[in-house]
Amino acid sequence: MPATSVIGAQWGDEGKGKIIDLIADRADVVVRFQGGANAGHTVIVDGEKFVFHLLPSGVLHEGKLNVVGNGVVVDPTVLLDELEQFESRGLKLRDRLLLSGAAHCVMPYHRVIDGLQEGEKAGVKIGTTGRGIGPAYADKANRCGIRLWDLIDESRLRVRIQANVSEINRFIVAVHGADPLEADAIFEVAREQGRRLAPMVKETGAFLRRLLAEGKHVFFEGAQGVMLDLDHGTYPYVTSSNADSLGIAAGAAVPPAAVGHQIGVAKAYCTRVGSGPFPSELHDELGEKIREAGGEFGATTGRPRRCGWFDVLAARYSAQLCGFGGLALTKLDVLSGMGEIGLVVGYDIEGLGRVDEYPVDTHLIERAKPIIETFPGWTEDIRDVRSFDDLPANCQSFIDQICDRVGVSWELISVGPGRESTIIRSVA
Ligand code: GDP
Ligand code: IMO
Ligand code: MG
Repeated sequence: MPATSVIGAQWGDEGKGKIIDLIADRADVVVRFQGGANAGHTVIVDGEKFVFHLLPSGVLHEGKLNVVGNGVVVDPTVLLDELEQFESRGLKLRDRLLLSGAAHCVMPYHRVIDGLQEGEKAGVKIGTTGRGIGPAYADKANRCGIRLWDLIDESRLRVRIQANVSEINRFIVAVHGADPLEADAIFEVAREQGRRLAPMVKETGAFLRRLLAEGKHVFFEGAQGVMLDLDHGTYPYVTSSNADSLGIAAGAAVPPAAVGHQIGVAKAYCTRVGSGPFPSELHDELGEKIREAGGEFGATTGRPRRCGWFDVLAARYSAQLCGFGGLALTKLDVLSGMGEIGLVVGYDIEGLGRVDEYPVDTHLIERAKPIIETFPGWTEDIRDVRSFDDLPANCQSFIDQICDRVGVSWELISVGPGRESTIIRSVA
């Protein structure tokens, strides 16, 4: 059985968690391969709400294995809290959760640096989630990170924390005028966390490759989205990992050919949290109306999400870059009663004129004005619709417009947050 990947096609928060949860009953194992606790994946089952930051969104399915791959940055505090929270709700997790020993830890000092950098007046403000993600990946690239294998080895852990904290103290005291951090206190907490996590720490790459060779169905769960990808998104207003499917092989330690069928998840409109260019943004009451109707407030930080029309250029770029085999279009219900609905079909860029393909260069995107085509909307409540043919005609043709222009057909249409509120055509 080939693998299936679920990837955010926009700026994150497309509803990846709902889609993974929905189709995870077909999986043997669900794998996170990048990002960290910056992710917030909300799943609603029988009216009960679950929010995942580090745990894969397959954990609600009893008996399914879940893997946190080497490409993830793991904040042990968040992971242990999340585990406890779900266990207190009756979910048995520890015997079906595997953590890659090669995954890097987000240490308390990473959060401190994230906060200090974002507070800097002179630097570029990314509007991060404040979860220490960038500094943790920077240490990984700088080869001074602490991996889970180090976290569970006391002597290695002590040496590495001491070396890192003394370096960081020089930096934060001199450059930021902040108070120095105490290596011993950080070590004591980390050592205890390492003890608690140790039984779950494994070499997950070999394990996943074996499952794939046995024909087991592996699902890869993306966090964030293509437009927040470190290499391919709106740099520097991005996260610090490869949030598109190009990150799967490296972040899960599987061959590129194992990535399998990819489902790109896209909202029927767009949202973005944090700074950075967002050509389709609606700055008027309509944007406000979509935010309210869609409950567009961050699951991790509670920040209001910026809202705009569906951006065809961005979604087509995502689809072509990743090679999506199908789309999951979410939150169609939110557009009910919005009047005429827009699609961004081109950018008007000062000095260049009309552009029909996503230009990638952030400086160009910053100067882009959206060229919007409008389509008649619908007023019907579609939350109880379970087949494409029962959707209002204008909703059907809006979906067709999106799929035609993006160049990928839909596999799932989501009309509400619950598992049941979904129209499924096919899922490979
Ligand atoms: P993720 O980060 O991609 O998993 O997405 P989030 O969970 O951060 O944000 C999506 C939000 O929309 C969550 O609150 C979901 O419960 C909700 N949601 C998902 N699909 C739908 C849908 O089709 N309609 C509505 N109204 N809400 C949805
Ligand atoms: P999910 O998985 C939406 C954004 C932040 C900021 C930028 C960098 O729920 O879709 P970071 O803390 O990663 O250094 O912040 O990326 N961001 C997200 N936006 N959904 C997410 O995750 C995000 N994770 C990070 O708002 O603009
Ligand atoms: Mg989210």
